[in-house]
Amino acid sequence: MTSKKLETLNTQDVLSMKGEGYYSKKTAGAKNAIDSIQEILERSILSIPNKEILRFADFGAADGGTSQELWYNLINLLRSRGDDRAIEVIYTDLASNDFSTLFKNMQGMHGEKNLAYQKIFDNVFVHGCGTGFHQQLLASDSLSFGFSATAMHYVSEKPCQIKNHVHMVGADLSEKKQFMAQAATDWESILLSRARELAPGGRFVCMNFGIDEKGRYLGNTGGHSMFDKFNQHWRTHWDQGIITKEEYINATFAQHYRTVDEFCTPFNDKMSEISKAGLKLLSCSTKLTKCPYRTSYEKNIRSMSKKDFADSLIPTTRSWSETVFRTALSKRDENESNEIVNSFYEKYRAEVERDPDGHAMDYIHIIMEIEKI
Ligand SMILES: C[S@@+](CC[C@H](N)C(=O)[O-])C[C@H]1O[C@@H](n2cnc3c(N)ncnc32)[C@H](O)[C@@H]1O
Repeated sequence: MTSKKLETLNTQDVLSMKGEGYYSKKTAGAKNAIDSIQEILERSILSIPNKEILRFADFGAADGGTSQELWYNLINLLRSRGDDRAIEVIYTDLASNDFSTLFKNMQGMHGEKNLAYQKIFDNVFVHGCGTGFHQQLLASDSLSFGFSATAMHYVSEKPCQIKNHVHMVGADLSEKKQFMAQAATDWESILLSRARELAPGGRFVCMNFGIDEKGRYLGNTGGHSMFDKFNQHWRTHWDQGIITKEEYINATFAQHYRTVDEFCTPFNDKMSEISKAGLKLLSCSTKLTKCPYRTSYEKNIRSMSKKDFADSLIPTTRSWSETVFRTALSKRDENESNEIVNSFYEKYRAEVERDPDGHAMDYIHIIMEIEKI
């Protein structure tokens, strides 16, 4: 691969969430989604193997804010049952992640102090790991319980740039197939890595963005499709000569939304590498989490203006997508790219303000409970 190709296709540097706590502050829906599977997580944590030290991991944790209450609740559950064992919680994300905010969150120096479990409970240790989750990150057989939310739709490498859209959901068939193949390879690496890390009897629960049985996915659950809107406004910037064709094309999300079938295939074949590595799928379900900004607007329709709604919806889309557009403009100086990125989101915001009907960012997750046997 040429260095130019590497520059634009490598995803490791370009997909971090907006830092300094912006991500979890503006992403209430991601937290609601995590909180909604508390029961599955409690079931898992109570059935993990009897090890001297409990090692937990949160893969792709961003600033840790959205899963902090979950970890607080799980540790509280164990402690309330008299389990005083040492607990290590390892937060993993890419090296570019804002780990500083994450550590501040856990130590009660930032965010929700009443959930800063590292301070609240004894014998609990928090660590960070800045290596991608497609590799083995922990010593073999050492992990009691792994968790990951809304992270594994990121592919390790873009197999191609998408020419007429920004996301694989709008790509042409041949581009889609390339993303599908990349995602299948990545899913196998993710699962084989977890299989090595997990102790026998350990569990891995993940909730990933994907495509459900009704063909729905993030921001596309009826009404407007958010990724089509991203594409429409980015494309308008090209049509108006504000960005170049190359910049339009380079704004390709390094993401693939797997179908339920794509997620489950490695478990259905007893002879697959995943089955041979000892991973067994206990359950798989899909879930729609309503866009909290839309819900709030509908509830408060008398007191909230269309502008209030647009002002709340666009930042949640921006918290995780901005780097894609910013990276596409990497040849420009900072002021220029700020101006373009701001105008891009402003166009989307103004459209929502003009007519909020059909705009929302509902979440669609595929939830899997996996055991290492
Ligand atoms: C949308 S955020 C989700 C954060 C949090 N888990 C939640 O549910 O709110 C996705 C996170 O996955 C991380 N990520 C993407 N690819 C990754 C990889 N290969 N290894 C580790 N983390 C990754 C991103 O940096 C980002 O912090």
